[in-house]
Amino acid sequence: MSIVNAKELLMKATREKYAVGAFNITNLILMEAVVEAAVDRKAPLIIQTSVTPAKFLGARVLVAIFRELAQAAPIPICLHLDHCTDVEFCKLCTDAGYTNIMIDASKQAFEENIRQTRAVVDYAHAKGAISVEGELGTVSGVEDQVKVVENEAALCNPAQVVEFVEKTGVDIFAPAIGTAHGVYKTPDPKIDFDRFEKISLLLNGHGVKVPLVVHGGTGLPPATVKRLVALGGAKFNVSTELKYTLIDSVYEYITSHRDEYDPGKIDKAVKASVKEKIYYWIDLLGCAGRAA
Ligand code: 13P
Repeated sequence: MSIVNAKELLMKATREKYAVGAFNITNLILMEAVVEAAVDRKAPLIIQTSVTPAKFLGARVLVAIFRELAQAAPIPICLHLDHCTDVEFCKLCTDAGYTNIMIDASKQAFEENIRQTRAVVDYAHAKGAISVEGELGTVSGVEDQVKVVENEAALCNPAQVVEFVEKTGVDIFAPAIGTAHGVYKTPDPKIDFDRFEKISLLLNGHGVKVPLVVHGGTGLPPATVKRLVALGGAKFNVSTELKYTLIDSVYEYITSHRDEYDPGKIDKAVKASVKEKIYYWIDLLGCAGRAA
């Protein structure tokens, strides 16, 4: 149906109190799997790539495949560059046709984070309807090239949020609230719901202005996800779970079909397993049937 930016999708999600799944993909099969699952559920969709796959596969190649799949799909879809720490690469992906860019300058000092985020916002907005995600505080764990050890992770300071958003002009905002990239060490990770609610009220309490992003979706208990959606979480990022599903399903297929040499069947098994994960997330986030 349509190629959209993340802001368009997420303003509506915030107003209507559901969230959109933002799924990290690393290859064509995963991209097809997330699109097919979202189409089956009539859900809006954000496809994400980290910097490494964007460099390995090529940003323009990824955009070409994205455009081909998105144009044929009867749902709105965004292509998002995730956690890019390099302003120049953000610009390159903007030029290539990504429709949302995350500049992750969260490890920098506050003023430098503002400066780099502002540079990407100015560039993306000058190109047209490309929206930008910025982050304050640091999310612990590893996501592609961004590594934050637990004792150095800093939660987002609500006192800085309005200044950050106003000075950068950022379209969507990711506050660090205790979620983490990768696999959680405990089944019930400590999330600072009060902090998240405060930030949500600051930005969207009097009319929706800047939709909120939750990082570290893998392993969050369903009740935690639902509570964060109710508090205003509009974009949920899920990466590690899909990488595990990809690798485990390849391994399982090969070990149970050791004499078979048919790559298409492996791809089929991977796609089926990944689609099951996407259905789970779409249903949990409440975005099934919201594509219209
Ligand atoms: P997980 O890998 O924990 O799902 O986190 C994904 C993420 O936040 C990507 O930005």
